[in-house]
Amino acid sequence: METTLFFALLLLLLISLVVLQTRRSRPPNRRLPPGSLGLPMIGQSFSLLKALRANNDQEWFKERIKKYGSISKLTLFGHPTVFLHGQAANKFIYTCDGNTLANKMPPSLSRILGKKIIVELNGEDHKRVRAAILTFLRPEVLKLYAEKMDKEIRNHLDDHWRGKHEVEVMPVLKVLTFNVICSLVLGLEGGPIRAKLLSLFQEMTRGLLSVPINLPLTQFNRSINASARLKTVVMDLIREKKTVLEKNQAQSHQDLISHLITIQNENPKSTSDDEIVDNVVGLMFGGYDATSSLISFMIKLLAEHPSVYDAVVKEQDGIARNKDLGECLKWEELMNMKYTWRVAMEVLRLTPPFFGSFRRAIKDIEYGGYIIPKGWQVMWVSSMTHMDANIFPEPSQFNPSRFNEQTTTPPYSLVPFGGGPRICPGGEFAKMETLTMIHYLVTQFTWKLSLKDNSFRRDPMPIFNHGLPILIFPREQDHAMI
Ligand code: HEM
Ligand SMILES: *[C@@H]1O[C@H](CO)[C@@H](O)[C@H](O)[C@H]1NC(C)=O
Ligand SMILES: *[C@@H]1O[C@H](CO)[C@@H](O)[C@H](O)[C@H]1NC(C)=O
Repeated sequence: METTLFFALLLLLLISLVVLQTRRSRPPNRRLPPGSLGLPMIGQSFSLLKALRANNDQEWFKERIKKYGSISKLTLFGHPTVFLHGQAANKFIYTCDGNTLANKMPPSLSRILGKKIIVELNGEDHKRVRAAILTFLRPEVLKLYAEKMDKEIRNHLDDHWRGKHEVEVMPVLKVLTFNVICSLVLGLEGGPIRAKLLSLFQEMTRGLLSVPINLPLTQFNRSINASARLKTVVMDLIREKKTVLEKNQAQSHQDLISHLITIQNENPKSTSDDEIVDNVVGLMFGGYDATSSLISFMIKLLAEHPSVYDAVVKEQDGIARNKDLGECLKWEELMNMKYTWRVAMEVLRLTPPFFGSFRRAIKDIEYGGYIIPKGWQVMWVSSMTHMDANIFPEPSQFNPSRFNEQTTTPPYSLVPFGGGPRICPGGEFAKMETLTMIHYLVTQFTWKLSLKDNSFRRDPMPIFNHGLPILIFPREQDHAMI
């Protein structure tokens, strides 16, 4: 508490100077959106964090809208901010060019994750690194990895599910999604290095939302240390791969790192080693929490909705029946799991891993009759359209068949993967992983929720307060697998 107060006062002092400076240079008569900026730097940050931790964020946003209308200003995480939401706001953000709105993470995040991580890059650098990552993540290439994904998931079920009565879903799925990234991105299919990476990675992420004071014994200090050690391991792996690749060209499509090194050899300007390292960490970060959140919530909602569960089992059993025992799922089969993917989309509509995101105004922007001043932060809560009754009738109902009718969802209204030039490049990867996991789960097990209270908080991704323990039962051989 005391450190928080000290920190708050320090920031207050520093920032009032900055604010005074900007006030002076601000021309009069600008139509700023309504709302109070509150205390410099801090403003409404703690109030929003508290709402997120209580899973009350949607109410918090609605409260604001009731008070100030659909656009308002506030201060969040050190910056004066304009809050936006709605279909038009989503469209505005996703169609804005990089000279108007840029990505900028809070300094504590970029200090821990790295300055060359894709979410921190803009303009040409962003295009170049994104193109390199997409050469691996685009469907035509990704489909070559369906078998590797399949193998990872079956190993995971053997190690963490088979023979158990109870499984704590969320922590176990985080191990799965981390291992899958290690396998497909780093080419690490197990062993002590992978275990070490997981513990360093978890130590690193613990500090992302911590107070950014780099003194011994602070979580921030431990996280920077873990990040540096993690990157040393990844850099060693890159060197190792380079040696292997020099000897044997045939291995160039084994994993993302080899892939990036091959591109680097063909075009030295594509990505530097430092960029590869930072972006491998970025992919771990992007690929780990969000996908484990999706699969965990899917497991919960399937347990609570027997008719949806039965329909998923029917689809998956149909696919299993046409396969030999032990045969891997093929890309085409994954793409045929249409109903199961609708269920996943409905899960993403109701509990999107990202409730929204942040950008920074590069110049004064006019939007909705107001000015968003240069240098201000923009927070748009993309997921609010997911709960708009005009777009999704009875929005709080879990109802995957709302996507059955061929009627397409209006544009910019269902956006769990974002949109525009920064749309999630890992969408197909997440789809492949989720569908493969659900296939093996429903064809081999049935499950029941252990607890009545499966509440969750946002940190900022949704996390079950009690980890989502479930009771699992192996399915009879006669109606699974055969
Ligand atoms: C269900 C799973 C996932 C969801 C819901 C999700 C969602 C998102 C969203 C909403 C964004 C855009 C954020 C913004 O506009 O500020 C994003 C960006 C990104 N995601 Fe994902 N993601 C998922 C899985 C993955 C996976 C598996 C990977 C990697 C294998 C990944 C890698 C990335 C990267 C690298 C970016 C940054 C793209 C850029 O800035 O150009 N994501 N994701
Ligand atoms: C942790 O804090 C100490 C003392 O300020 C500093 O010397 C050290 O470099 C910090 N560790 C990291 C990883 O930044
Ligand atoms: C991390 O901390 C350990 C001891 O706690 C220290 O030996 C090591 O040098 C630190 N590494 C970095 C990169 O700061």
